[in-house]
Amino acid sequence: MKYAIITGATSGIGYETALNLASRKWNIGITYRNSEKGKSTIEKLKKESGNENIAGFLCDLKSFQSIKECTSKIAESFPYIDVLINNAGTWETKFTQTPDGIEEMFMVNFLAPVYLTKLLYPQLKKSGEARVINVSSAAHMMGKIVRTDPESRNNFKHIRAYGNSKLNLLLATKLLAREFAADKITINALHPGVVNTKLFDKFSGFLKWATRLMTISPEKGARTSIYLATEPKGGNVSGKYFAKSAIKKASSLAENTGNLVYIEGLLNKYLSNR
Ligand SMILES: NC(=O)c1ccc[n+]([C@@H]2O[C@H](COP(=O)([O-])OP(=O)(O)OC[C@H]3O[C@@H](n4cnc5c(N)ncnc54)[C@H](OP(=O)(O)O)[C@@H]3O)[C@@H](O)[C@H]2O)c1
Repeated sequence: MKYAIITGATSGIGYETALNLASRKWNIGITYRNSEKGKSTIEKLKKESGNENIAGFLCDLKSFQSIKECTSKIAESFPYIDVLINNAGTWETKFTQTPDGIEEMFMVNFLAPVYLTKLLYPQLKKSGEARVINVSSAAHMMGKIVRTDPESRNNFKHIRAYGNSKLNLLLATKLLAREFAADKITINALHPGVVNTKLFDKFSGFLKWATRLMTISPEKGARTSIYLATEPKGGNVSGKYFAKSAIKKASSLAENTGNLVYIEGLLNKYLSNR
């Protein structure tokens, strides 16, 4: 029996990914930050997939405490995890801080998936063939490494800050691939395409119009996540970046293994005392 956890399954790409895996009769756990939305999503998933084995876990990825509580509840109910899909993400057009005082995209798109993965490591290890899938973005190519300002606090530009968070997630994927190599846990990242979801709801003007023009459906946007979760090839490689269900070259910053020291330093700074 397969067990999978998907974050951010209450809408968009995550919902379609959860629906596909639920339709294969896997045991699914979705995380949500809003209880009512979470419960109605579970009911919808059960109805559309015909699978009753869908559990929900409250998890606000803005909060370290919430992630900690959520992962201990997951560990109580799931004997092991075969597939963890870190799908949830956010695009904030204004500088926003979490209750822990961290820039929101840096937290939700980068620190949270890494923290969640580390806390679920014992469950992943028990699977014996676990896959972690991080939904990054081609927008990582707009990201930069600014050692003196990793949270983009100075002169905040939302496109750059979003890009930075996805670049960081890609580098963390490569770093964790090394750490997990001996444990039969693979970890890969992906770009889902430009997808018609509520991710761009905070955009305005030309940017909103232009983004909507080039989007694909959430069902299509879920395909690479599903490929990595279900196809034998998805479990054969680790530390790679995928798009359209194939390995792609990431930006030179993401492919530069010298930058793994930078990302390791960031993770130590933000996660080591949690
Ligand atoms: N759409 C695109 O073109 C595109 C392109 C590249 C990458 N991506 C990435 O794809 C992933 C899925 O995004 P989407 O396009 O499907 O957008 P979406 O429809 O807005 O879905 C985002 C999901 O993340 C959840 N989420 C956001 N902030 C959260 C928080 N603090 N705690 C817990 N959950 C939170 C949302 O929950 P609520 O329902 O409660 O808001 C929702 O379930 C994201 O990582 C995004 O960056 C998207």
